[in-house]
Amino acid sequence: MKDFFSCPEESNFYSNCLENLVFKNCQKSEYVVEFGSGDGSPVINSLLRNRFDGVIHGFELNTSAWKAANSTIDEYDLGHKYIIYNSCLFDSSQPEAEYLVANPPYLPAPDNNIYMPLLFGGEDGATITNNLLSLGYPNVLLLVSSFSNPKSTIHHARSNGYWVNNFVVLPLKFGYYSSEPKVKKRIEELRKNKMAFYDGDYYFLAGVLFKKSQKSEVDLSNQLVQAMTSL
Ligand SMILES: C[S@@+](CC[C@H](N)C(=O)[O-])C[C@H]1O[C@@H](n2cnc3c(N)ncnc32)[C@H](O)[C@@H]1O
Repeated sequence: MKDFFSCPEESNFYSNCLENLVFKNCQKSEYVVEFGSGDGSPVINSLLRNRFDGVIHGFELNTSAWKAANSTIDEYDLGHKYIIYNSCLFDSSQPEAEYLVANPPYLPAPDNNIYMPLLFGGEDGATITNNLLSLGYPNVLLLVSSFSNPKSTIHHARSNGYWVNNFVVLPLKFGYYSSEPKVKKRIEELRKNKMAFYDGDYYFLAGVLFKKSQKSEVDLSNQLVQAMTSL
């Protein structure tokens, strides 16, 4: 068992979201900040498939993941495009960037004493996600889980001036981390309070592009709430 996050299906989905919702829309030489880079594979795979002329500054607290990411970055000679710091974005001076991107920790639990404490997303799973929407970046791409109080995230985004510009939804089977009894129990409690939505073994994971503007040309918030709460 790896001592850092490993879920290829989820990481591939995040990589596709980066490609279709961020890198393909980027103008020349834009800056992207990433929270929680993990082993770096989502960004690296996306960079290998696309021409992106900007620079990505990643933040990853897990030292093993950070080392793994750097070794792959060296292997593909991407050091000038993808720079990862072994530190926390919230504790650092935050780099300016057009985009903030993350597959953030979103596991709900009473406390962070779970299989992988760095995947703890607060009591309702949405704490870090919502904090990322308080940093003021103009465009934010986040994976949002249907069992982590997704309605709170959409409301929080709205009250911070963000609109839902685009989203993609993937049905995902509960995996090793989300099936941990302590986590699953908390998810069941949230469901009773209409803060978690899932059906049997499946929940929804959405890649959501939030855009900050006075008035959005596109706002898909209602469609996103409908999609996430339909289970
Ligand atoms: C769901 S994993 C995603 C990893 C990778 N982006 C992927 O999709 O494969 C979340 C990552 O956030 C990292 N993380 C959690 N809290 C962090 C923090 N405060 N600062 C930086 N990274 C953090 C975890 O160690 C973990 O690697």
